[in-house]
This record gives sequence, structure tokens and C-alpha cells, in this order.
Amino acid sequence: MGWFKLVIVGALLPAAFAVPQRNIRQSYDDEAKRAQAVKDAFLFSWNGYKTYAFPHDELHPVSNSYGDSRNGWGASAVDALSTALVMELSDVVNEIIEYVPTIDFSKTSTEVSLFETTIRYLGGMLAGYDFLKGPLSGLAKDEKNVDALLAQAQSLADILSYAFDTPTGIPFNELWIENRSHVDSFQGLATTGSLILEWTHLSDLTGNQTYAELSQKAESRLLNPQPASSSPWPGLLGYNINVTTGLFQDDFGGWIGGADSYYEYLIKMFVYDPTRFKEYSTYWSTVADSTIAHLTTHPTTRPDITFVAEYSGKTLIESSQHLACFNGGNFLLGGTVLKKQTYIDYGLDLVDGCRATYAGTATGIGPEVFGWNSSLVPANQTEFFQKNGFYITTASYDLRPEVIESYYYAYRVTGDKKYQEWAWEAFLAINSTCAANSGYSAVDNVNEVGGGAKDDFEESFWFAEVMKYAYLIHAPEAEWQVDGSGNNKWVFNTEAHPFKVVG
Ligand SMILES: *[C@@H]1O[C@H](CO)[C@@H](O)[C@H](O)[C@H]1NC(C)=O
Ligand SMILES: *[C@@H]1O[C@H](CO)[C@@H](O)[C@H](O)[C@H]1NC(C)=O
Ligand SMILES: *[C@@H]1O[C@H](CO)[C@@H](O)[C@H](O)[C@H]1NC(C)=O
Ligand SMILES: *[C@@H]1O[C@H](CO)[C@@H](O)[C@H](O)[C@H]1NC(C)=O
Ligand SMILES: *[C@@H]1O[C@H](CO)[C@@H](O)[C@H](O)[C@H]1NC(C)=O
Ligand SMILES: *[C@@H]1O[C@H](CO)[C@@H](O)[C@H](O)[C@H]1NC(C)=O
Repeated sequence: MGWFKLVIVGALLPAAFAVPQRNIRQSYDDEAKRAQAVKDAFLFSWNGYKTYAFPHDELHPVSNSYGDSRNGWGASAVDALSTALVMELSDVVNEIIEYVPTIDFSKTSTEVSLFETTIRYLGGMLAGYDFLKGPLSGLAKDEKNVDALLAQAQSLADILSYAFDTPTGIPFNELWIENRSHVDSFQGLATTGSLILEWTHLSDLTGNQTYAELSQKAESRLLNPQPASSSPWPGLLGYNINVTTGLFQDDFGGWIGGADSYYEYLIKMFVYDPTRFKEYSTYWSTVADSTIAHLTTHPTTRPDITFVAEYSGKTLIESSQHLACFNGGNFLLGGTVLKKQTYIDYGLDLVDGCRATYAGTATGIGPEVFGWNSSLVPANQTEFFQKNGFYITTASYDLRPEVIESYYYAYRVTGDKKYQEWAWEAFLAINSTCAANSGYSAVDNVNEVGGGAKDDFEESFWFAEVMKYAYLIHAPEAEWQVDGSGNNKWVFNTEAHPFKVVG
């Protein structure tokens, strides 16, 4: 019906119709204009954060206030640095690097997560240092502030390093740094296995090998998991580990939150330094082969879609998460650096699957958790499942990056503009659904036009990740862009902070 009307109008008013129509289409056909639109969104959020929240951790964009969910050290500022750098926003860069030397990482009244602190703060400062000592050195007004990035990273790691002082070398994740104590809980696969990139890079930059040794000793427990029964298939591991015994407590897992970046970092360590971490490519290939062979599933209603299942032992659980959608990008990275087309093809299938979770909803944004077990479809989602091949189990969107992140890798590897279109569509959907008074907010329901209630929370990774990947997919060539043929000069940590690779 809409199409028919358009043809009639076009036929009646050929000239008047054709000209403005082309202008509207062209206004964002241009990569540079899209990149600028993402920059505008970044600047809008940065100004909101600066006005209402800085130097607190994050903006509450609906109420124009702030929160300190990351120990009150200014998480959004530190997380925004490497994005401001690739966008070459010199004013923002200097505001952030003038602030960093004033942070006192020894003081906080709240519990510290070793993992979150490593990927956001340590990662953000190290990436800033790499850029400002390297290709973007022209952006810093005062060299002292550049040196302070590394000094502060080192001071933070020195404060955190007692966490590794355990019988096994596996660190405690939940820390009270002011009295150097910890919460005696199990440690997760991802929280243990996503430190090695940042802590190794810190050692490489400072010359103090202790940071690398600590993180690699912890990692060695994951590379040789005990008991053997915690690994249902080669390379695929359980979820919780006892820090005292080093034993895995279960055989549950997948490419999901809590496990995810352990797998992600196996191939990224090889990218970071293929000499020192040569065997990590074999560990990663083992995981990739097991995933393809044992976790690949297709929804009964949409056999064209590929999803990676979770598992409990050898039993599959047909459920996945927005968080897991980085896996397409990770297979694409692995496939290009290892020159293996099977991994590239599989990565592209996973990208299509995650794209389906966006394409199916009323907002055009994918849900936090979804399932595709045909015997568990909620009664009111029968039609939805029939059409889309998944049903929604948690409908919120927390400003997460993983789907756009995988579009980015897909575009860099294939050069197919379809992935830029998908990223642009996702950006527009998020830009209109999540926009709040002074920034962007997590929303409750991606399957309701407008996104349902706004949670009044803007995670710091909005700046580090969503803004960066949405920008880079439309940005000009640069040495830090992912290289489609696998010759990467930079590697992105799990918070999207790019580190210069060795050699
Ligand atoms: C290296 O770092 C460790 C861990 O923080 C620290 O204990 C040690 O004193 C440092 N060594 C040197 C030579 O600075
Ligand atoms: C350390 O400080 C935290 C927070 O004040 C407190 O809950 C915890 O019990 C303290 N631990 C020790 C061992 O003193
Ligand atoms: C880990 O194992 C040790 C030794 O068996 C035990 O004392 C400790 O309570 C366990 N940790 C947790 C979190 O259950
Ligand atoms: C699907 O759900 C049923 C009912 O809970 C369960 O028995 C079955 O194992 C599930 N299958 C998969 C593959 O998730
Ligand atoms: C389906 O039903 C559940 C439980 O009553 C409700 O929370 C949810 O909003 C409904 N979903 C849709 C799409 O109507
Ligand atoms: C993004 O949202 C802002 C605020 O609603 C709007 O002004 C801007 O035009 C949007 N960007 C695009 C490219 O639609």
C-alpha cells in the first residue's frame, strides 16, 4: 500500500519528487556524514556527563544526576578517552587527560571488581597512552598528562595486585582495597581470563614483569582446567572456580556473560604477540572447533538462522544473550589472523543470527536475553517466535555494543556495505529509543516502540564501545582499524580500548 502510493505520487510529480527524495537518501548515504552523526551523539552524551556527572562514574541521563557504580574514580571519563582519541576530539581528550592524574585509586568506599577495573580503567589509560605516545601524539597539549596515564595505570595495578596473592594464583575478584581484603566467593571464568591482555601490556610498557606473571599464572589454571569433567568438550569450560583449590565447580557455560571474554582473549593474545602467545591460537582454535561441532543450533521456525547454545555438561540450553553477540566478531578475527575461511564463514553466520535479534523487535534493538527452545515459547510470543526464530526472555537494552561490534568486524573483513547499513540502522534505533534528557539511557523493553521505561542509567561502556564501533565502521582508514586480512597493528580489549600490538 505504501509502495503503491509512492509510485503514484512519483508519477504525477516526477521532477519535484525525484530531487528531494534523492537528497534525503543521500544525506546519510555518505560515510563521513554518518561518522559525524555518531560523533554528534558522543559529544551530546559527553556534554551531558560533564554538566551533570563528571567526575563521578556515570550520568543518570533522565534525572540529570550521577552515580558511582565503579568506585567513584570517573569511569565514564576514563572509558571515553580512547573513543575521543579515534574521533580526534582534542578538547575532550585534554579534559580527560588533565583529570586522570588527579584520581586517587587508593581511596574508595565501595567494593572493587578486579575485572571491571581492569577492563575499563586500566584498559582505558593504557589505550590512551598508546595513542598519545604514538599516532595521535599531536592531540595532547601537555606531555606530562600522557606520562601520567601510564603512571596512574601502574599505581592502580600496584593497589590491585594483592588480589593474586592466593594459594593458586587465581585472583579474588571482589576486593576491599582500603583494608586489602576480599570477599570469599567463587571466581568466574571471564573475571580470571580477561586480565592477561591488560596486565601483560602494562608489563611491556613499564618493564616490570610482575603484572604479566601474575595474570599469566592465573590464566594457566584455565588452560589446564581441573577437574577434567568441568570441560564437556575440548576448550569449552565451566563457569565458577574455587580460588583456593583452583577447581572448577561446574560444567555450565557458553559464550555468555561471565565466560565470554576468556574465549575472546585467547585469540587476542595471539594478535597482541604471536611469538610469546603462539600456543594461544591453538587454544582458541580448539574452542572454535568445539563450538562449531557441538554448540551450533538452528531455531525450528527459522532454520536459516545460526545461534550458539549454552550448555550444562553435554546438554544444550537453547538460550543466548546480547553479551554473547561479540562471538561473530571474534570468529572473524580468528579466521582472518589464522587464515581459516571456515571460521570466517561461521562468524558471518553468527553475525546474521544476532542481526535477526535486532530486526525482529519493535525498536530494532535486540534483547538482553533470548531463547529458541520450541517447547519453552511463552504463550504470547508464539507468533513472534514463528516469524523471528527466537523469543525474548529479558527485554531490556543496557546500551551494550556487541552486535554493532560484530558488524564492525564483518565490515572490515568482507568490505560488504550491508554491515555498515546494519550498524547505521542500529545506531538510529538506539539514538531514537534511548535518548534521554542529557544523554542515553538503558531501556526496559526493546519490543515496545519507545523502549518502555527508561532506567536512568548510562553505562560507561556507552562511550568506550557503542560510540567507538558505530563510529569506526564509518570512519576513514587508520592503523588502529581492524585489518580485514589479519595484519592487525592494534588489538581491542573487551571494553574496546585499542592497544598497540607488539612488534
Ligand atoms: C613491580 O610490580 C610489583 C606489583 O605491584 C611490585 O610489588 C614491585 O615492587 C614492582 N617492582 C619494581 C622493581 O618496581
Ligand atoms: C574491609 O572493609 C570492608 C568495608 O568497610 C568491610 O566490610 C570488611 O569487613 C573489612 N574486612 C576486613 C578483613 O577488615
Ligand atoms: C573453596 O575451597 C576451600 C577449600 O576446600 C573452602 O574452604 C572454601 O570455602 C571454598 N570457597 C568457596 C567460595 O566455597
Ligand atoms: C527445551 O526445553 C525442554 C523443557 O524444559 C527441555 O527438556 C529440553 O532439554 C530443552 N532443550 C534444549 C535443547 O534446550
Ligand atoms: C507476555 O506475558 C508476560 C507475562 O504475563 C508479560 O510480562 C509480557 O509483557 C507479555 N509480552 C508481550 C509481548 O505481550
Ligand atoms: C540522534 O538523536 C538526536 C536527538 O534526538 C537528533 O537530534 C539527531 O538528529 C539524531 N541523529 C540522527 C542521525 O538521526
